Amino acid sequence: MAEKEVMLHIESLRKEYPGVIAVNDVSFDIYKGEVHIVIGENGAGKSTLVKMLAGLNTIDSGTLKLEGREYKPENVLDAQAKGVNIIHQELSMMENRTVAQNIFIGREPVKGFWIDKKAMNEKCRELLDSLEIEIDPSTMVRDLSIAQQQMVEVAKALSFQSKVLIMDEPTSSLTSKEIDNLFRLTRKLRDEGTSIIYISHRMQELMEIGDRVTVMRDGAYIGTREIKEINMQELIMMMVGRKIENAYPRNYNEPGKEMVRTDKLTGLRFRNVDIHINAGEIVGVAGLVGAGRTELAKAIFGYDPIESGAVFLDGKKANERHYSTTRAVDAGISLLPEDRKKEGLFLDMSISENIVQAVARKLFKNGIADKKVENQLSEKYIKDLAVATTSGEKLVKELSGGNQQKVVLGKWLATESKFLIFDEPTRGIDVGAKYEIYSIMDRLAKEGAAIMMISSDLPELLGISDRVYVMKDGELAGEITREEAEFTQEAILEVALRGKERS
Ligand SMILES: Nc1ncnc2c1ncn2[C@@H]1O[C@H](COP(=O)(O)OP(=O)(O)OP(=O)(O)O)[C@@H](O)[C@H]1O
Ligand SMILES: [Mg+2]
Repeated sequence: MAEKEVMLHIESLRKEYPGVIAVNDVSFDIYKGEVHIVIGENGAGKSTLVKMLAGLNTIDSGTLKLEGREYKPENVLDAQAKGVNIIHQELSMMENRTVAQNIFIGREPVKGFWIDKKAMNEKCRELLDSLEIEIDPSTMVRDLSIAQQQMVEVAKALSFQSKVLIMDEPTSSLTSKEIDNLFRLTRKLRDEGTSIIYISHRMQELMEIGDRVTVMRDGAYIGTREIKEINMQELIMMMVGRKIENAYPRNYNEPGKEMVRTDKLTGLRFRNVDIHINAGEIVGVAGLVGAGRTELAKAIFGYDPIESGAVFLDGKKANERHYSTTRAVDAGISLLPEDRKKEGLFLDMSISENIVQAVARKLFKNGIADKKVENQLSEKYIKDLAVATTSGEKLVKELSGGNQQKVVLGKWLATESKFLIFDEPTRGIDVGAKYEIYSIMDRLAKEGAAIMMISSDLPELLGISDRVYVMKDGELAGEITREEAEFTQEAILEVALRGKERS
């Protein structure tokens, strides 16, 4: 094989934050026209590294060379001008602008002195069509779901002429159809010579799209391998430094009494949904983006309005007048929301303060927090979930993406609810921590909790659910149980795409 051409040369890159060396003397090459995966546990330094490449983080020391020439990005715009683009791990669009405005900001087509809105929307339409994204260019970003926002970010990044395109967990809330589209375009760009740096915690996905993989651990460079020449077990070994035998620790429980039931429940984007979940069960909810899964969860939790139908908790009708999340929490429900930043986390508060949030009312009756109690409780979840931090006092915004997720999870686990709804609980979480989360869910079920898990990660849904409900276009399209021979990804996808038919 001919020598590969180096697109980006990374030499002794280093970045330090107070108390932690996030990226420690990292060197490796990105070839021209390859998909280069970067993996590592939460907090390993992946985002910090790529942010330096994209001009989002300053570089403490080290050098970069782009196509053999010194490359020193001053800021994001400078990096873009030099051909390096990034799709953020954190969504970063302007909510009160349209999709088209967000995509073409700073490079809007003009007519005379004015922005040519029509041309902009048309260009945007073409771009979205090429990705098979069914979103109107004039939609406000605030009206999009998380997954749709993610697709728009992807579209935006693809619309630049990139030498290097960085994707930091671009698929974390996408489902298989959108991922297929993204991969199709990724391969196309690669074949045209773009270098793609790709970060994700979805191992199967990485094996599918990657050409080479670089592993980081604790800020350090561990090694680079050809994807073809490495298997998943070895890769996990390199990442976590230990073996993980069984990915899904799930024990079967004899289901107990009915904990939750919905009767013809109709709300914002779903109708006539009848589901039930018993104590001791973990029930998955599958469906494509827009199927109404998150909306169903939010209605059950009293967050979104219910149009008609009923929610029964423990046999009692819950959605009487003024049903609200406060009532839901009091009735023993908790919801780990999909949009952690908006609905689950206080970024400017410490880890401990966040973890006690949902139980504070119960724990501190006079409204004054007892620091000792707070610390004890948060220490437990920091340990259980292996949050990578020097202390519980650290501000949440200083944590890596995955570790922020763990904090929200800890917050809801601390409520010890009888009925827990998890919306994409392991999104952005590394393999080791995923295992911990599944173990905790399994333990909760064993202790008698009912769990509803919405996930776009089908292997995970099948790995830990007793039953899986499948939604399509706001309706319950089917149910598949573990005992059935058809408890497979194919069966779920078929129902999710085709809808009701089998029954
Ligand atoms: N703004 C910041 N201030 C202080 N520390 C930070 C900041 N950003 C990141 N860190 C720390 O740097 C380390 C690396 O974080 P980084 O976000 O690069 O991890 P990551 O590999 O992307 O993890 P994840 O898979 O969870 O996204 C972590 O210990 C994190 O707490
Ligand atoms: Mg990250």
